[in-house]
Amino acid sequence: MLRRLHPVQPDSFAFTPANLEWAKGQISKYPEGRQASAIIPLLWRAQEQEGWLTRKAIETVADMLGMAYIRALEVATFYFMFQLQPVGSVAHVQICGTTSCMICGAEDLIAVCKELIAPAPHTLSKDGKFSWEEVECMGACANAPMAQIGKDYYEDLTPAKLRDLIARFSKGEVPVPGPQNGRYAAEPLSGLTTLKDFESGRQQYNASAQLAVDIGDTVKRIDGTEVPILTPWLGKPAKAAAKPAPRAKAAPAETAAPAAKATAPRKTTTKAKAEAPADAAAKPARAPRAKKTDKE
Ligand code: FES
Repeated sequence: MLRRLHPVQPDSFAFTPANLEWAKGQISKYPEGRQASAIIPLLWRAQEQEGWLTRKAIETVADMLGMAYIRALEVATFYFMFQLQPVGSVAHVQICGTTSCMICGAEDLIAVCKELIAPAPHTLSKDGKFSWEEVECMGACANAPMAQIGKDYYEDLTPAKLRDLIARFSKGEVPVPGPQNGRYAAEPLSGLTTLKDFESGRQQYNASAQLAVDIGDTVKRIDGTEVPILTPWLGKPAKAAAKPAPRAKAAPAETAAPAAKATAPRKTTTKAKAEAPADAAAKPARAPRAKKTDKE
C-alpha cells in the first residue's frame, strides 16, 4: 500500500515544552553520533501530540537528530503505526485484513467501517470522531478477526460487536479491549484443555487487556503524565571517560601464544567457515618456542 504525506499540511510544528524535555531525554540515551536511534520514539510523541504525523513534525524530528529529511521520511512512511493524515478525534480503527482475519470475516468488519465511518479509508467520519484503514497482520491471529482501536486490540469480533464498540466509543465510553466473545485470551472457546492450573489466581482480564484497563490509554493521547521521565543523568556533568588499563609488559614468546588464543573467536558464517582451513594453513600452528639459553 502506498503511504504518502497528506496533501494539506500545517505550516509549522513544535514540541510542547514538556514533550521537548522528554524528547531531549530520549536523545540522551544514545551515544554521540547515534542520535538517529531516537527517531521512532520522537516521531511517536510528535504524533501523539498532534494526532497525526505532519511533514513539519517529521522534518523537525530529523533536524533534532541531525538526519537528512529523506531518512526520517523513510521511517515515517514505512510503519503503519505512523498516521500520515488526520485521524478521528476519538479513535482510528485499524482492521486486520490478513489471512486468518480475512477467512474469519474481516471483510464484513470493513463493510461496517465503510458504513459507519467513511466509504474510503483514511477519511474522517462526518462528525470527525473516527477514521479507519485496513492493515496487515497484527499478530493476534488466534483471535481473528480483530481490530486495533486506538492503542489496543479488540479481538474475536463480529460485525455486530464492532458496531457496538464504535457506538460506545462515540458516546465517550472505552470498552474493555481483548476478546469480545467471552474468551479470556487465546484459549479454546470451550475452555482450557491443558495447563488448567493456570485458570486459578488470574486477574479479571488477560495481561494486555488488564494493562489497558489499568493505564487507561486506549484512546488517550500520551502527554507525558503517564510515567515520570526516567533520565536522571540529564543536567549532570558527564563522567570522565575511564582511563585505559595500563598495558601489560611484553610477555616472552612462550606465553604470548596462549594470550593470542584468548582473543574471542569471531562468529563465522558457513561461507567463512569453509574458508577457515585455508586461512589457518597460512599461519603457523603455534607460536615458535623461545630459544633455550645456556643457563637452562
Ligand atoms: S491475520 Fe489478523 S492478526 Fe494475524
